[in-house]
Amino acid sequence: AKKAVLGPLVGAVDQGTSSTRFLVFNSKTAELLSHHQVEIKQEFPREGWVEQDPKEILQSVYECIEKTCEKLGQLNIDISNIKAIGVSNQRETTVVWDKLTGEPLYNAVAAPVSPGSSVPVAVVPSGSPVPAAGASSVWLDLRTQSTVEKLSKRIPGNNNFVKSKTGLPLSTYFSAVKLRWLLDNVKKVQEAVEENRALFGTIDSWLIWSLTGGINGGVHCTDVTNASRTMLFNIHSLEWDKELCEFFGIPMEILPNVRSSSEIYGLMKAGALEGVPISGCLGDQSAALVGQMCFQDGQAKNTYGTGCFLLCNTGHKCVFSEHGLLTTVAYKLGRDKPVYYALEGSVAIAGAVIRWLRDNLGIIKSSEEIEKLAKEVGTSYGCYFVPAFSGLYAPYWEPSARGIICGLTQFTNKCHIAFAALEAVCFQTREILDAMNRDCGIPLSHLQVDGGMTSNKILMQLQADILYIPVVKPSMPETTALGAAMAAGAAEGVGVWSLEPEDLSAVTMERFEPQINAEESEIRYSTWKKAVMKSIGWVT
Ligand code: G3P
Repeated sequence: AKKAVLGPLVGAVDQGTSSTRFLVFNSKTAELLSHHQVEIKQEFPREGWVEQDPKEILQSVYECIEKTCEKLGQLNIDISNIKAIGVSNQRETTVVWDKLTGEPLYNAVAAPVSPGSSVPVAVVPSGSPVPAAGASSVWLDLRTQSTVEKLSKRIPGNNNFVKSKTGLPLSTYFSAVKLRWLLDNVKKVQEAVEENRALFGTIDSWLIWSLTGGINGGVHCTDVTNASRTMLFNIHSLEWDKELCEFFGIPMEILPNVRSSSEIYGLMKAGALEGVPISGCLGDQSAALVGQMCFQDGQAKNTYGTGCFLLCNTGHKCVFSEHGLLTTVAYKLGRDKPVYYALEGSVAIAGAVIRWLRDNLGIIKSSEEIEKLAKEVGTSYGCYFVPAFSGLYAPYWEPSARGIICGLTQFTNKCHIAFAALEAVCFQTREILDAMNRDCGIPLSHLQVDGGMTSNKILMQLQADILYIPVVKPSMPETTALGAAMAAGAAEGVGVWSLEPEDLSAVTMERFEPQINAEESEIRYSTWKKAVMKSIGWVT
C-alpha cells in the first residue's frame, strides 16, 4: 500500500530517570503520531546510592527508535518524513567512558560508604572483573556527601564562589562532585584520564556521542542547559569555568564542547533513522519549558516526573534566589540566538514515591492504581508522608532529611498512605511555588503543568486545592519531548518548526480550579510543614 505523506515530522528522545521514550510529532500541529517507551532499571547498591547502566540506557534509545518506526510503518507513515531528532534527558547524571573502546569506565557496586560515614572509600582495582555493563551515578545519588563536606571547607573567598558563577548551591545533586568521586575512587577512570582516553558527559553527551558514531567519529558535545547543571559551567560567560575546574580538580580536556540547544550536532550513524540530523538538545526541564511555550519573562511550568521541577523564565537576566531556588540556563535556541535563564525549584521525589509504593511496599501493582486507592478514601485521614529519600532539595537543601510517614492511627490503611503520597507531591510543589513567588515578587496566577503524573486527576485537583490557584494541563502530557522536538525542528539547516503557537494546534488545555476553602488549604499546608521539620536532621 502507498504510504500516506505527511508534513515534516520530528522525533524526540526523552531519556528520563525512570524510562526512555522516543516520540514522533507532526511539526505543523504538534500532534503526537507514535511513540514507544522502555522502563530503565535503577540500582540501589547501598543506602543513598543510585546507579544506572549507560549501555542499557543507550540500548533503550535504539529500541524505542526502532519500535516507534515500526509503529509508524503500521500507520502507513513513511519514516523518511522524519527530518530531525531532538534529545532531552535526565540532567546531572554523570558518565565517564573510554573514547577508544566506547565502554563506560565505572562498574556498578563499587565503594562501600554511606553518606556522612567516615568509612574509607575503597578503590575499584583496575584489574577487577568488569561486569558486562557500566554504570553512571544518578542525580539522586548521595554518595558524594563527604566530598561535598570536604569541598565546602575550602571554598575560596566567600561562600558565594560556586553559586555566583553557576547559580547552584554546592550539593551532591550536581555532576562536578559525582565526577570528583569517580576520579578519586575508580582506578579505571584515573588511568583513562592519564592516558587521555576518558570522556565525561551527562546523559545527553553520552547519547549524542554514541548515536553519532561513538568510537567511529562520535560528536562529544552538550548544550548550555545540561552544562549549567554540572557546577563547572559559568552561566554568565557560557563557558566551562577554569577556576571551578581547578577547585573541583576536573581535567578540562575530558569535558564536552558546549553548543546551543538548537543546531545540528551530527547525524544518526545507525538504525532506522540513519542519516537524520540530531539538532536539538535540552535538559528535560528546559525542554518542558520550551514545550509549554514559556518564552516570556515570568512564565512558569511544573513537570511531574521522578522528581518535580518548577521553572520560571526570567528572560536574559540571571536572577539569584533568596529562598533556596536555583538559577539555571533555560535555553538558547540557536548559535546566534540569545540565552534565556530560569529560576528553578527542584523536588527530588515525586513520581518516585509512587514507584517506591509499588516496588518497595507492594501496595500497588502498577503506578496507575494509586489513583484508585486514593479515590476510595478521598483523604489522608491526618496522615502525612514526607518522601525525603534523598534528603530535601528546594527550598531546604537538607541532605540530613530522610523520609517519614506520620500521623498514623489504627484506622490508617494503605489508601490513606496512597493519598498522603499524592498530597506530598502537591505540598512540595506549594513550597517551591511560594519561594518562586517571593523571589519574583509577582505571584503566579495559574500553574502550567506536565509530565506523566498529570494524567492522575486526583493529583491535579489536589494540586489546585493546595496551591489555591488554577492548574492548567495540556491534552498531550509529553511536553518534554515536544520541547526537544521543537528545538530540533527549528534548528538552522532543518527549519521545519516555527515555534509559533499555531504550530501547536493539536494541543488543547484542561483546567482544574481549587474546590476547597482557603482556610482548609492553609491548615493542611501548615501541618505538612510540621511533618517536614520532623524529617530534617534524621541523618547526622
Ligand atoms: O534534575 C533531574 C531531572 O532532570 C530528572 O528528570 O524526568 O527523570 O525526573 P526526570
